Amino acid sequence: MNKAVLVTGGAGYIGSHTTVELLEAGHQVVILDNLCNANREVFNRIEQITGNAPIFIQGDIRNSLTLDLVMQLYPIHTVIHFAGLKAVGESGQQPLNYYENNVHGTIVLCQAMQRAGIKRLIFSSSATVYGEEAPVPYIETLPRGKTSNPYGTSKSMVEQVLTDLYKADPEWSIVLLRYFNPIGAHDSGLIGEDPRGIPNNLMPYIAQVAIGRLQQLSIFGSDYPTQDGTCERDYLHVVDLAIGHLKSMQALDSAGIHIYNLGTGQPVSVLSMVKTFEEVTQQPLPYRITDRRAGDLAAFWADASKAENELGWKAERTLKQMIEDTWRWQSNNPNGYER
Ligand code: NAD
Ligand code: UD1
Repeated sequence: MNKAVLVTGGAGYIGSHTTVELLEAGHQVVILDNLCNANREVFNRIEQITGNAPIFIQGDIRNSLTLDLVMQLYPIHTVIHFAGLKAVGESGQQPLNYYENNVHGTIVLCQAMQRAGIKRLIFSSSATVYGEEAPVPYIETLPRGKTSNPYGTSKSMVEQVLTDLYKADPEWSIVLLRYFNPIGAHDSGLIGEDPRGIPNNLMPYIAQVAIGRLQQLSIFGSDYPTQDGTCERDYLHVVDLAIGHLKSMQALDSAGIHIYNLGTGQPVSVLSMVKTFEEVTQQPLPYRITDRRAGDLAAFWADASKAENELGWKAERTLKQMIEDTWRWQSNNPNGYER
């Protein structure tokens, strides 16, 4: 077997799209996922799209024996680390679970990498690490700020752990990718976001209202200091984000901590997302304005010029494509991967 990329959390939303891009670019992919937030059906879909199957090991990143075995069995050269928990509200109710999966899990993973002599890592971080008071657009030279929930704090803590790891052993090359708001789906309509239970995030909520699984969207606040009063975010297509991981593999060729924002650089308001969704899909989208959601910031978006200048990466897909692809995925799979 040729050298392979280990993708933790590769059965999930961003991991599955990245796996497709890796396979299509000719990489061998080994996925380690405990399926706590994913469905096995995703592997059939990945194979339908690429004609290739990743190797799948069902296991947990917190289990060092599993990790040792995977790293002995397969010639891994790089780890792309998506595995973790990501629901902001839940993280407030279950902080220990979030720190255990996201922080402890990453430490166990890095210890296994160290034992196996693998020192190339790409980590899924988040724009949330800039904190509540950072000026917009967010740029990588800003320090990490005060996070408002255990999920965000866990991402910030992992960034610190990885920075210290590099300081202690400068042979490591580590990329910290700070994602803005990924939405959309593969244009085949075969893979997409499939949240368990009622979605927390805007786009899956909109898609489920449009398909009739949910009755009405609540827009959380219309009195923000933005153009139309609703919050603004930097939404990027998940396939652009996936390609960002492939492009950032080149940064691993030099040792160091390499930080990149992955976003479009364009803020979009909740209300304009709703209007554009209605226009693009011709589906009515019932909504009402409610109170603000605790912890939401008025507006943030990326300065994404570093990724463009250093990696040649730029988000290319438009908002219209993000919506069309979400809608294709949702209409073809009204119940997600559960048929
Ligand atoms: P996801 O939940 O769809 O994927 C995460 C995957 O990791 C799931 O398949 C889950 O089963 C697996 N997993 C969780 N804990 C595990 C463990 N202990 N061992 C093995 N597997 C485990 O989430 P996603 O949206 O694809 O996000 C991927 C990564 O990107 C996460 O780390 C998330 O925090 C980060 N991120 C996501 C967003 C976003 O908006 N989706 C934004 C910023 C950062
Ligand atoms: C949230 C997290 C962030 C995480 C990201 C991806 C918070 C404060 N931040 O980002 O840390 O990285 O998800 O998991 O939760 N909205 C509605 N109605 C809805 C849902 C959302 O109006 O039903 C609005 C929100 O107020 C927000 C925007 O839509 O302004 C986007 O929300 P969401 O998709 O949850 O992402 P973020 O809050 O930006």
